[in-house]
Amino acid sequence: MTREHRDFLAIPDFSSAELGSLFDLAESMRTGVYDKKPLAGQSLAMIFMKASTRTRVSFEVGTYQLGGHALFLSPRDVQLGRGEPISDTAKVLSRYVNGIMIRTFAHSEVEELAREATVPVINGLTDLLHPCQVLADLLTVRQQLGEISGRKVAWIGDGNNMANSWINAAHVLGFELSLACPAGYDSDAAILERARSGGNVTLVRDPGEAVRDADVVTTDVWASMGQEEEQAVREKAFHGFCVDAALMSRAAKGAIFLHCLPAHRGEEVTADVIDGPQSRVWDEAENRLHIQKAIMAVLMGGEKL
Ligand code: CP
Ligand code: NVA
Repeated sequence: MTREHRDFLAIPDFSSAELGSLFDLAESMRTGVYDKKPLAGQSLAMIFMKASTRTRVSFEVGTYQLGGHALFLSPRDVQLGRGEPISDTAKVLSRYVNGIMIRTFAHSEVEELAREATVPVINGLTDLLHPCQVLADLLTVRQQLGEISGRKVAWIGDGNNMANSWINAAHVLGFELSLACPAGYDSDAAILERARSGGNVTLVRDPGEAVRDADVVTTDVWASMGQEEEQAVREKAFHGFCVDAALMSRAAKGAIFLHCLPAHRGEEVTADVIDGPQSRVWDEAENRLHIQKAIMAVLMGGEKL
């Protein structure tokens, strides 16, 4: 079957050159140079099987700013929450809307939605990946430090959906990524294996080793959505993996701190770091809006990369 549209489920869905153009487009939206309405008359369905502040608001506002309209669909309201198959939902929504954004648990559900839908599907977070967030993070790095190539990023903590998307980004863009994860909490084995062959992605156990010479230090919660009952076990396992001022002092001079939010101050990061001068988390959150507008303009609005 030939497809006339493209989806965004994972960072490697774009080439390195396309990502560069996407960042340029997002930047032109941020500065106001781009003021077109490529989604005029279009609707985006937003399926949220998990909670969200940033993703929900940035997609909804972003769609509006591009001239379109977004629908918020939670499991309490739609039949998907009562067991209607993903494939039926995909086919039906495709008859009404011009794009679907989904946040859910199993990544395979997003892949199935994309297979069955005849409109573009955007991954708004799964247990495996969070690609929109890492593109927003990379846009932040570009704004703060210039081109990402030649830079080193340190990931501290859980090998979760964010870590997996950082690995994918390093694989496509070639920058250096060092992950420090406690034993038993490594990133997805297949994603890590593929990226390691490039030689620019390493996994270590010592956060101090990962942050050495790093230009960007980033982390995330120890228990992601759906893992709440593991909180106590994880707090023990992640002892020593808090990003504090001492750890930041071992990174490169001028290093910035990123966190996708929501954050747990006193767990994965101390308040003095996330609220301190090296933190860029509010720019990072804002960039969700700009990069997702760029993604929608390309996937749904006919913008070329
Ligand atoms: N970072 C992020 O995706 O935040 P939300 O869960 O609030 O959408
Ligand atoms: N890893 C976190 C990211 C939240 C935006 C989670 O999945 O809950």
